[in-house]
Amino acid sequence: MCGIVAGVAERNIVPVLLEGLRRLEYRGYDSCGVAVLRDGAPHRVRSLTRVRSLDREVREMGLEGGTGIAHTRWATHGAPATQNAHPIFSKNEIAIVHNGIIENFEALKTTLTRAGYEFSSQTDTEVIAHLIHRYYNGDLADAVRRAVTELRGAYAIAVFCKAEPKRVVGARHGSPLVIGVNGRELFLASDPLALSDVTDRFVFLQDGEIADLSRDGSRIMNRDGQPVVRGGRTLSQPPAEAALGPYRHFMQKEIFEQPHAVARTFRRKRPFDATLFGATSPYAFAPIDRILLLGCGTSHHSAMTAKAWFESIAKIPAQVEISSEYRYRETIPGKNTLVVPISQSGETADTLGALMHAQSLGHEYTLAICNVATSAMVRQSCWSFITQAGTEIGVASTKAFTTQLVALFLLAVTLGRLRGHVDEQQEATYRSQLSGLSTALQSVLAREPQIIAWAHELARKDDAIFLGRGSHYPIALEGALKLKEISYIHAEGYPAGELKHGPLALVTESMPVIVTAPNDGLLEKLKSNIQEVRARRGLVYVFADADANLSNEENQHVIQMPEYYGTLSPILHVLPFQLLAYHTACTRGTDVDKPRNLAKSVTVE
Ligand code: F6R
Repeated sequence: MCGIVAGVAERNIVPVLLEGLRRLEYRGYDSCGVAVLRDGAPHRVRSLTRVRSLDREVREMGLEGGTGIAHTRWATHGAPATQNAHPIFSKNEIAIVHNGIIENFEALKTTLTRAGYEFSSQTDTEVIAHLIHRYYNGDLADAVRRAVTELRGAYAIAVFCKAEPKRVVGARHGSPLVIGVNGRELFLASDPLALSDVTDRFVFLQDGEIADLSRDGSRIMNRDGQPVVRGGRTLSQPPAEAALGPYRHFMQKEIFEQPHAVARTFRRKRPFDATLFGATSPYAFAPIDRILLLGCGTSHHSAMTAKAWFESIAKIPAQVEISSEYRYRETIPGKNTLVVPISQSGETADTLGALMHAQSLGHEYTLAICNVATSAMVRQSCWSFITQAGTEIGVASTKAFTTQLVALFLLAVTLGRLRGHVDEQQEATYRSQLSGLSTALQSVLAREPQIIAWAHELARKDDAIFLGRGSHYPIALEGALKLKEISYIHAEGYPAGELKHGPLALVTESMPVIVTAPNDGLLEKLKSNIQEVRARRGLVYVFADADANLSNEENQHVIQMPEYYGTLSPILHVLPFQLLAYHTACTRGTDVDKPRNLAKSVTVE
């Protein structure tokens, strides 16, 4: 989703800005641009193609400067078009880049139009540019401060103005923004990753704060103009895992990284202890009597999968909420509820909003399960567990999902121990299941050639139904989500027992029905559901555990998985769904790593 890089230095910073944009590219965008001050005026280049092309145009134009702002845009207000790409100018005097959504932009636009401002884009960003211009009276930071008090919604902005050529001002509310310090060079970015080439020293801005950067130094103030003192942090950035190696796409690479990523996630000195989650005492979770799991998309499916673990292992009631719904719902807070926001990026606006909503209701115990240690969600929560997936570049989440599941399993067992429901023997069993997980995942990945054959058939279909039961129902949902988002085939996930209550009407000889079939307590029920499909001549494709006693028959194709893996079985069963979606998308020739209309980190509502 949208990304910001900006800075002020003695040297030409355009290469820094472009490298920053390149590092944010994986998040998804549909246009990009850069502006600098040169010869007393703002100059910009905007492109509807990739950062690579922007770079070429910038070189051709000889665009250089020591004060600049740059952006990758994921369209919200106004189509992806050059005039809507950022930086946006006001009267050729103010230049701005913006992440977020301004909810009252129409009212502001009306006021500004009456005041004589002309709009050349359909963006909400342009109202901020004109507002700052309107308030400008020789002090850019003050104009920004006054302008943002009129905004409703979420924003992170970086601004420069023609009259003060050695100054860049940033502000944030609800969207992340960080200052990067490299000696006398100062930068702003929506993610520290964008600046990892130039610095490891960062100062994180809080909501409502304004950062004033100039060649003389930086200062932060709050929305009342009062100075804020905030220390910096040194961050060792995760290595840029940008090389594809033998893989065709990052998604494929990330699917194959899962055996290592899950092992990194659970390999801890004290695997089932509250201190693993950032708590200072092993008994910190003692009062917890309920779990509230929050997430979107794939992270929501992690929550759904883990709900069963909290209930069966820790004997603790668990509630799962889609973040975007929960944040606007009237709910009854529980005093001792542990609120667990789950997120790869830790910046997803809906999950962050849901977490803050829970806190506003009085929930005190919050624990983020997240892949990014520096993210807003981690900073907003009392405790955190950082999954060790490594940077996930493919928009479709894969290794983030399986590492989240490992983290949630560790939490369920930790709570189970604390509540006296997991004895030493059970703990040893869980530990050995975790230890064997990598090898089991490797053996599932070895089924890739068989899955490719199925993908060639699936690629010719328009629709698909995914079925699972019990703890594998969320895996069916995840399989359907993966397929639709990267292959653009319409897919639905259902609990298999629900089929006869409606979706069975869709089953014909051309409808592929893809089933996850672990050899668990629901297998016989699932087999009956499979028969219901075959009786209607539906085409069944089953990923069945080796000991599930399912084999190829008329209208029934089976790929054998390893033997039933017990409680952690959902982690194994999602892998073939990821591979099936991936190879189906490849066969259809879609842009697998950057599917249309989607962004990696959804920082707007
Ligand atoms: C699907 C996918 C999305 C994300 C969702 C939440 O493959 O990637 O559904 O899971 O946008 O993102 P995070 O986990 O970053 O909060």
